[in-house]
Amino acid sequence: MIQRKSDREIELMKEAGVLVASIHRKLATMVRPGVTTLELDAFVEKTLKKHGAKPAQKGYLGYAYATCASINDEICHGFPRNQPLKEGDVVTMDFVVDLNGGLADSAWTYEVGEVSDEIKQLNRVTEEALYKGIEQAVAGNRVGDIGAAIQSFIEPYGYGIVRDFAGHGIGPTIHEEPNIPHFGKGGKGQRLKEGMVITIEPMINIGDWQSKMDDNGWTARTRDKTISTQYEHTLVVTKGNPIITTDQNQEGMIDL
Ligand code: MF3
Ligand code: CO
Repeated sequence: MIQRKSDREIELMKEAGVLVASIHRKLATMVRPGVTTLELDAFVEKTLKKHGAKPAQKGYLGYAYATCASINDEICHGFPRNQPLKEGDVVTMDFVVDLNGGLADSAWTYEVGEVSDEIKQLNRVTEEALYKGIEQAVAGNRVGDIGAAIQSFIEPYGYGIVRDFAGHGIGPTIHEEPNIPHFGKGGKGQRLKEGMVITIEPMINIGDWQSKMDDNGWTARTRDKTISTQYEHTLVVTKGNPIITTDQNQEGMIDL
């Protein structure tokens, strides 16, 4: 059963979204050579506490951190660690916030200092791919329309679209139905309905789409060791443009 949220639930999820977006905006200013992902993770956790929110993924299926911090060839679910970021790296910060029971989930890929033109393009295109998917997240469309839009946008670049991880419904738990692949066929899959809250979170590789799992059982990285970037928003499906709860340009952003 795919949940459709009440107005009250959506209100709580929007409030969580503002906090997630505000934290991302601050992270953008904190990421630079020398900073460790453990320091970024600590900042996120401290800020959540200060605002009466909880790190929803800490403890989720045994995951130990407030954030996922995936560097370079790591696709997702990287562990924050005590290793200074260096010029030319990219790091994807991904976290889910629980504020009074409302959840919001957003990932963003940050460039550390100056990165190569090749990586810059990948990163820009991945962000654009997210918005191609969001355009299709309209009541009456189907899940496959989202993946198809992302796939047809990405394919001309020759990049790999990660297949082993997908967007998802969200609330009351982190991962709910439906599963939302970032590739697929238009007109196929479950129909999107007003009041559904979902994430779209394309992970795009410079090279091949294949991933492999680290020994830690969590972190996925590209098989061919090429760089991977990711952008994720949480959004509410409506009859018109979706409401992007984690939009970093929305009203009410918190200065951290
Ligand atoms: N945004 C991540 C995702 O949807 C959050 C994962 S929670 C974790 O995959 F606990 F699995 F890390
Ligand atoms: Co997610």
